Amino acid sequence: MRSAAPAPPSALLDEYAARTPASAKLYARAEGLFPSGVTHVARYLRPHPIYVTRAQGSRKWDADGREYVDYFGGHGALLLGHGHPAVVEAVAAQLSRGVHFGAAHEREVEWAELVRELVPCAERVRFTNSGTEATLLALRIARAATGKRGIVRFAGHFHGWQDHLAQAAPAPEPPAGILPAVADHVLISPPNDIAAVQALFETREDIAAVILEPTGATFGQIPCPPAFLTDLRRLASRHGVLLIFDEVVTGFRCAPGGAQAAYGVTPDLCTLGKIVAGGLPGAAVAGRAGLFEALAFHAEGSRVQPPAIAHQGTCNANPLSAAAGIATLRVLRDGHAHARANSVAAALRHALNETLRACGAPWCVYGEFSGFHLYPNPTGEPVTPGEILQGKVPWMKLKGATPAPLLHKIRAGFLIHGVDLAPWPGGLLSATHGEEDLERTVAALRRVAARLKEEGDLG
Ligand SMILES: Cc1ncc(COP(=O)(O)O)c(C=O)c1O
Repeated sequence: MRSAAPAPPSALLDEYAARTPASAKLYARAEGLFPSGVTHVARYLRPHPIYVTRAQGSRKWDADGREYVDYFGGHGALLLGHGHPAVVEAVAAQLSRGVHFGAAHEREVEWAELVRELVPCAERVRFTNSGTEATLLALRIARAATGKRGIVRFAGHFHGWQDHLAQAAPAPEPPAGILPAVADHVLISPPNDIAAVQALFETREDIAAVILEPTGATFGQIPCPPAFLTDLRRLASRHGVLLIFDEVVTGFRCAPGGAQAAYGVTPDLCTLGKIVAGGLPGAAVAGRAGLFEALAFHAEGSRVQPPAIAHQGTCNANPLSAAAGIATLRVLRDGHAHARANSVAAALRHALNETLRACGAPWCVYGEFSGFHLYPNPTGEPVTPGEILQGKVPWMKLKGATPAPLLHKIRAGFLIHGVDLAPWPGGLLSATHGEEDLERTVAALRRVAARLKEEGDLG
């Protein structure tokens, strides 16, 4: 067997390892338990990830007692930050009443009523356990409703790990473990190219739905111009194709009603996750009432027909998740949390770009709403955030182009300086992020850029 080439020496990675010995110890145990020692690919970091012991507001602390500004935010679930008092109180109260009734309960009704109140397309709701389950169910609903099999999706967009949508870019074979017969029904179109979608809709009669992340892949790492959404809505309606917004990240984050409310484009179906359950496991599909008929029982006289679509789930609408979700949606429904998170994120993007300019780094920070993306600009051509948002940088350069060793160094460098980035690299802010977080992040960037320059990694 060929052994992997050893990683080149890095003082930065050595310092990271030296500062996080308790995490290193836990990782040594985890490596014998989990593939690559982690429970989610996004948490993989060389030489080891940090092990977090507690979190509050915009901060979290690791097993070595080190404090971090948190930009991963529960994979985007925590628009209100860690440990919002209303959420903690609601979950604690529910915990003492019971965590699973194996029965219908009032909280699931209240939870769905809030979703319907806030999300424009949500005439009906079905709760699932994860965003992946939600996108799986959305496709099943679309196929059942239209009697067609084909799905159009966009390269780079992420919709969870289920078989139909796990392949995010054209490839000769689907990812390991996925049947070609399943992948064959999913057509992958380049992002933001309405002519390509039109060509598919005009040449294929078997398309049930088109699905996308409405801000563009990974909360706008590959930005999506709002005009594309309007054009897609028009085109889908004209061809009898259902439009599905995957709002697992954008739902309740872009606005209380999600990206569909922020952009004024209403899909037929949407998937919701993360924020909808306030950081606990839980997700949902919502959409036009008629489309949910296939999930309903049909009673005629003494006969009861079971639903056409099979959808079970032991923890569907779990009371604890419902309690966290209701508390979260009640706090964010007035839009104050968004206004705060968005304005701190805008200030952060600006300050990071100023810092990059001052250090002469060719990188660029861009994003919208409460997110930011760090573009390590491997070819070093001058670029502005505006140019990226206008689609002037090819999407292949924006997502997945940064070599993994550099990504690991960037993340480890920020961790040394007390900042936990999301791995793409970038981050999602909460309503609890503020001036001190911003200052710490700017200082971290300055030092990380200097250290990467020393190690020959800064473009
Ligand atoms: C846009 C989008 N859709 C679906 C998913 C899958 O959600 P989950 O991780 O809850 O399965 C994610 C997860 O990050 C996501 O970002």
